[in-house]
Amino acid sequence: MRTDTGQIVHLADYRPTDFVLERVDLTFELDPTNTKVDARLIFHRREGVDLSAPLVLDGDELTLSGLLLDQNEVPAAQYDVTPESLTIRDLPAESPFEITVTTYINPEANSQLMGLYRTNGIYCTQCEAEGFRRISYFPDRPDVLAPYTITIIGDKAANPVMLSNGNFLGGAGYDEGRAFAAWFDPHPKPSYLFALVAGDLGVVEDTFVTMSEREVTLKIYVEHGKEARAAYAMDALKRSMKWDEERFGREYDLDIFMIVAVSDFNMGAMENKGLNVFNDKYVLADPEIATDQDYANIEAIIAHEYFHNWTGNRITCRDWFQLCLKEGLTVYRDHEFSADQRSRAVKRIAEVRHLKSEQFPEDAGPLAHPVRPTKYREINNFYTTTVYEKGSEVTRMIATLLGRDDFKAGMDLYFERHDGQAVTVEDFVKSFEDASGRDLTQFSLWYHQAGTPLVTVSSDYDQASGTFKLSLEQMIPATPGQTAKEPMHIPLSFALILDNGSPAVPTKVAGGEVTGDVLHLTERRQSFTFTGVSSRPVLSLNRSFSAPINLHLDQTPADLAHIARHDTDLFARWQALTDLALPNLMHAARDARDGKEITCDPSFVAALLEAAGDETLEPAFRAQALTLPSEADIARELGGNNDPDAIHAGRDAILSEIAKAGTKTFLRLFEDMKVDGAFTPDAASAGKRSLRNTALSYLTYAEGTPARAAAAFASADNMTDLAQALAVLAHRFPDAPETTNALATFLARFDGNALVVDKWFSTQATIPGAGALARVRALMENPRFIATNPNRVRSLIGTFAFGNPTGFNRADGEGYRFLAEQILAIDPRNPQLAARILTSMRSWRSLEPQRADHARAALTTIEQTPTLSTDVRDIVERMLK
Ligand code: PHE
Ligand code: ZN
Repeated sequence: MRTDTGQIVHLADYRPTDFVLERVDLTFELDPTNTKVDARLIFHRREGVDLSAPLVLDGDELTLSGLLLDQNEVPAAQYDVTPESLTIRDLPAESPFEITVTTYINPEANSQLMGLYRTNGIYCTQCEAEGFRRISYFPDRPDVLAPYTITIIGDKAANPVMLSNGNFLGGAGYDEGRAFAAWFDPHPKPSYLFALVAGDLGVVEDTFVTMSEREVTLKIYVEHGKEARAAYAMDALKRSMKWDEERFGREYDLDIFMIVAVSDFNMGAMENKGLNVFNDKYVLADPEIATDQDYANIEAIIAHEYFHNWTGNRITCRDWFQLCLKEGLTVYRDHEFSADQRSRAVKRIAEVRHLKSEQFPEDAGPLAHPVRPTKYREINNFYTTTVYEKGSEVTRMIATLLGRDDFKAGMDLYFERHDGQAVTVEDFVKSFEDASGRDLTQFSLWYHQAGTPLVTVSSDYDQASGTFKLSLEQMIPATPGQTAKEPMHIPLSFALILDNGSPAVPTKVAGGEVTGDVLHLTERRQSFTFTGVSSRPVLSLNRSFSAPINLHLDQTPADLAHIARHDTDLFARWQALTDLALPNLMHAARDARDGKEITCDPSFVAALLEAAGDETLEPAFRAQALTLPSEADIARELGGNNDPDAIHAGRDAILSEIAKAGTKTFLRLFEDMKVDGAFTPDAASAGKRSLRNTALSYLTYAEGTPARAAAAFASADNMTDLAQALAVLAHRFPDAPETTNALATFLARFDGNALVVDKWFSTQATIPGAGALARVRALMENPRFIATNPNRVRSLIGTFAFGNPTGFNRADGEGYRFLAEQILAIDPRNPQLAARILTSMRSWRSLEPQRADHARAALTTIEQTPTLSTDVRDIVERMLK
């Protein structure tokens, strides 16, 4: 393991390389413990670069075995080498030269899953962000682009499949028992997009005919016997390819597109050119093993990685500070894709729920950073929800500001201008400015200022003059390293809804820019006056969540109920229901803490039940409406001094109130939403299942017995219903014999299918209450728990820390001590995984003092461990600062 070097990388220090890489020729002689890598690199000195400048290549835990310059051995005096770098001096002035580097690496021993490693007997690489340097000494940075030729030599019997990027050149027997395969990728690419996969895998094949009538071969590689489970991923891939042509005019550019599913992977998936590597969790599905959520995730991630081919690969990042250039944009693209494939409003609600529960806490805590950061200590720690999800929201706001046509013109210009280049966020923004003529200088602050803006709004209606006045104020909270903030350009979609539900159409606005239904807030304090409003309207603001902000808008429950009933923007209707729910939930948490009786505003319950029973609304929307803000959401709204037990108890009491008041509705929904016939994963059927299972959950609150859930478990004929019934049983009746039985039945039925056993782990890891920790510890002793597999670790330990507020935040601090112990155990094997799970404590400062003290002590234990990886040291030190 590479322990902390403590070096901070600054954006301001960026400069291009002294040498230009022209081409790359790699030969791998595969061996599980001793793979030989020959890297032939052709360079030339960049114009104007001093003759004394050496060539410096990056390494990570490497040993150099051979070094040639134009085929001649390089004398020892001409170079310096350490495991982390190779420096060669006295290189030719003008002509290109060839460096050949030979290294031997041990894939079997590579437990951090970066570079070349083995998973289930398969050779596999992961190079983003800085994994290539664990394979060979190389200029391992995203602005070094070259075409690659790859030769793979390996044991023939063990490696019938040998893959790399680009197009297949050929392959054959080699010498005794060995075979080779050669690949060529003509598209210049940075090393982080390199990939190699070899081993014995099954394959599913299909074809796609592109918009210019080229036939592309599509292949998805999975473990033998699992081919049928790749069908949905293949379908999603073809739909993604079609959609990117229609919506963004982007055509695929190689003869073949491959996806490989592996079972040990640190992240979701990786967009290597022409050879995406996936966590098998995001490929494999059939009705027996996958939930509707699994299907939706597969669709989204297949699309995401495919879309990277243009936003990430053809146009890549100049340096890692620009990560949002590819990630934020690509998330925006996959969000739009899913919105077009499913219900747009329901998709938007899910996105906003996710943004608020993951990104808002990050932005409000010690790990807050701008979408485009200016410094990092460990780039692996910047694959964050701020870079991804807030980055996507920033792209969405550009689309909102510019309107559909100008946004499209800007994207087209971006593709045309920068194809084949490694560029910056500034280049991206400039394309939109040039295409639209709009100045985006102030808007760009969204990339540079961290923290979620708070917009406070008050309104005033004057009947006599028919004017409606809106006063807005924006405040961007201080974040680490950024105390003073400038006002931002915040696009707020709005409607003024009249008594009869129709929108007011003002004759005039003064005070600022309004385009269509978007109000442009640009000043710290700003008032907009609308004239020609004949009666008092209800303001619906930040519709569709047009800006990722916190909004304080004093609205009466009656006005919120009016929006919930009448807004034409379904998202706004959901938002209004949430805004009605939150004060009740916050109040309930306070009352629970003070030992008072918990009450709930009946008009809120009535509005909720009205939406639940409204048959003009799609079931998926109604399910979302009935799903209250999470305990984490409530904690965030409360802001500080949080007691997770009180929040849980308060929320539980409100759920019971709703359940009692709505029993009739829930009984009806439970019957009506039953989906007959064979399972299909389409959005409409998924919506019905979701509403039915939500009703089931409420009914168990009303009935107080596990009987209904146990019956639902017994009769379920698909994984969505089965897993939901199991979760209701486990979370509501952890000690009931029905639950014990269901857990045992589930395990017996799916034993051997690790992805399903993960659901069994995570369901138990999220059982609320102080008993959860003992359960998690016991499950870690289960032979099905494999401590080296990231999916197992995430489903048990990660889910416990991120998804079990009462269990993890035990008042005695045992949860935090457990986490510290686990982090220290995982870190030496897999620093990226350890650092990621540690971020579950990012909101520790908003806990009540006793828990916060325990949390600090646990973090300090980690901090004081001398052998931490850079990854964990970076996170823990920022969290304690
Ligand atoms: N670039 C990948 C994606 O977002 C994520 C990833 C990052 C995977 C780093 C592996 C390592 O699509
Ligand atoms: Zn991505």
